[in-house]
Amino acid sequence: MSRLDSFIRRLTAQRDILNHISETMMDGLEAGPILEIGLGNGRTYSHLREHFPGHRIIAFDRAIGSHASSTPEPGDLVIGEIRETAQAYVSAGAALVHADIGTGYPDKDAVTLTWLPQLAAASLRSGGVAVSGLPLEHPDLAPQPLPASVREGRYFIYRKR
Ligand SMILES: C[S@@+](CC[C@H](N)C(=O)[O-])C[C@H]1O[C@@H](n2cnc3c(N)ncnc32)[C@H](O)[C@@H]1O
Repeated sequence: MSRLDSFIRRLTAQRDILNHISETMMDGLEAGPILEIGLGNGRTYSHLREHFPGHRIIAFDRAIGSHASSTPEPGDLVIGEIRETAQAYVSAGAALVHADIGTGYPDKDAVTLTWLPQLAAASLRSGGVAVSGLPLEHPDLAPQPLPASVREGRYFIYRKR
């Protein structure tokens, strides 16, 4: 598969999953912020704002690279290495954590996976939802079914036990 096709499928999966979650998985999760792990260009942040109104969205990245229209207010933007900066949010009681920080390099992603699952689990409130492009293996995160349009293994959904 070309990298273009792979990119399109990743973003389609991301959008379909976030829509699915907003429509079917947010009952009881009206309170609690959303953590956007990897703001990037801010396209996903823009989608989160539209589909999860009423939630504070806190976005993380090592540098600002987002479009001006999709850049959070300074109080909701955390710049630096997420492994370190997000420690301040481990008790945030997040309703939703979305992480799009896979690189396609197995060695780099393996390093990320030494800390990302624990961070996601600790940041979520009970019943909160984690969505990730990398698998999050953690005893507190129960894997959830994907929408029919998303191939198994392309993207991952979990609910905190
Ligand atoms: C694939 S992009 C995210 C794209 C985003 N979903 C969008 O809508 O544009 C991943 C982003 O995460 C950031 N990132 C990845 N790993 C990071 C880390 N360990 N600490 C800080 N930022 C990180 C990168 O700088 C990059 O901007």
